Amino acid sequence: MKNATAKSICVLGLGYVGLPTAAVLASRGYTVRGVEVNEEAATIINSGAAHIVEPELDILVEAAVQTGRLKAFPDPAEADVFLLCVPTPLNGHEPDLSYVETATRSICPFLRAGNLVVLESTSPPGTTEMIAEIIGEHTKLRPGEVFVAHAPERVLPGKVLREVVENDRVIGGVDDASTEACLQFYSTFVSGTIHPTNARMAETAKLVENAYRDVNIAFANELSMVCEELQLDVWELLRLANRHPRVDILSPGTGVGGHCIAVDPWFLIHKTGDTARMMIAARQVNDAKPRWLVNRIKQRAERFKRPRIACLGLAYKPDIDDLRESPALQVAKELMSSLDAEIRIVEPNLESHPEFSLWSCEAALADADMVVVLVAHTKFKKIPANLLAEKIIIDPAGALR
Ligand SMILES: NC(=O)c1ccc[n+]([C@@H]2O[C@H](COP(=O)([O-])OP(=O)(O)OC[C@H]3O[C@@H](n4cnc5c(N)ncnc54)[C@H](O)[C@@H]3O)[C@@H](O)[C@H]2O)c1
Repeated sequence: MKNATAKSICVLGLGYVGLPTAAVLASRGYTVRGVEVNEEAATIINSGAAHIVEPELDILVEAAVQTGRLKAFPDPAEADVFLLCVPTPLNGHEPDLSYVETATRSICPFLRAGNLVVLESTSPPGTTEMIAEIIGEHTKLRPGEVFVAHAPERVLPGKVLREVVENDRVIGGVDDASTEACLQFYSTFVSGTIHPTNARMAETAKLVENAYRDVNIAFANELSMVCEELQLDVWELLRLANRHPRVDILSPGTGVGGHCIAVDPWFLIHKTGDTARMMIAARQVNDAKPRWLVNRIKQRAERFKRPRIACLGLAYKPDIDDLRESPALQVAKELMSSLDAEIRIVEPNLESHPEFSLWSCEAALADADMVVVLVAHTKFKKIPANLLAEKIIIDPAGALR
């Protein structure tokens, strides 16, 4: 098979990465078999809708399903290209590759010579080689007969459809022929520059990108704690230090959350142990920030008998509804469980939450003793000053500045 002329694609895992990718491929004329083990998600997709929130994805999925170019199934089938977009979570601080292993074994009965298998999931170095080994063990194909490569995904939620196509991609095969086959396939729908390398380098590059962000945010978070001890305003400190032409310190916040920056550095640390000392320290600093903040809030609350505290924001970053690994959620839960206070949770991006009743911003602020802005949502930045007057304000992300 020449991959530039591949016709049928099997996408395993129709989540935040797999579904937009499948829909984009269908829109480019490929016949896409989506494989999704979550029956409910597959049913929604086959009805022509998206089960995840992502701008314009519904429209693209509807068109792909209506034209018959995308359909979700519980199992794989023969295809020219197989894309693995399954989860790679952490189990404690250890990577859990069981989804990648299961998905790889599930395609083995359908693999033919000339097929391309691409791992899109964020994975520790060596995972793509592991996939090639599983294929070697579970098929009669000889090494080199199937192309195996890694093409890590770098999309930003909220901009996924554009970024799937426009982002630069780093692509690395387990051998040169796999790199070339993968490059040919991605160049049929990616307009960004494709950078060929080998599989281990591609895996590591993706992890380093997020570890870099983690380390830089940790520095800012550490400064915010240092400033508290020195009784200095961290925002003024950053403003002054960033006047240096070669200094660009990031902003502190409640901590680091989400499914990427808080997770991916562990994939590298797991492989290198204590050699990755700065990455370990960054994880520890960022993970410690929510607990430090809880202690600060408790100290400030001591003067009240039973304070009314408006906690603004639960998401892991501004203007989204995603709560995965959210430090704001951690702070809210710890305050609820360890402080005798009326904790008023506000999250304008959520309709409801299974554990908390959510307050409107206005109701939470009225007669509150303290206001803690856990997430710099745009809505909070616009809170009129008179609604905050005479309240104790704790603003770790600088939303009210
Ligand atoms: N979401 C992002 O913004 C983003 C960005 C870059 C990289 N990534 C990486 O991409 C990978 C996927 O992330 P996601 O956010 O799309 O996850 P997700 O949980 O949204 O989707 C994964 C899907 O795979 C399905 N699945 C699990 N095992 C399967 C199997 N054996 N066969 C078929 N389907 C199976 C799940 O039911 C789920 O719907 C992860 O490695 C993640 O780190 C995600």
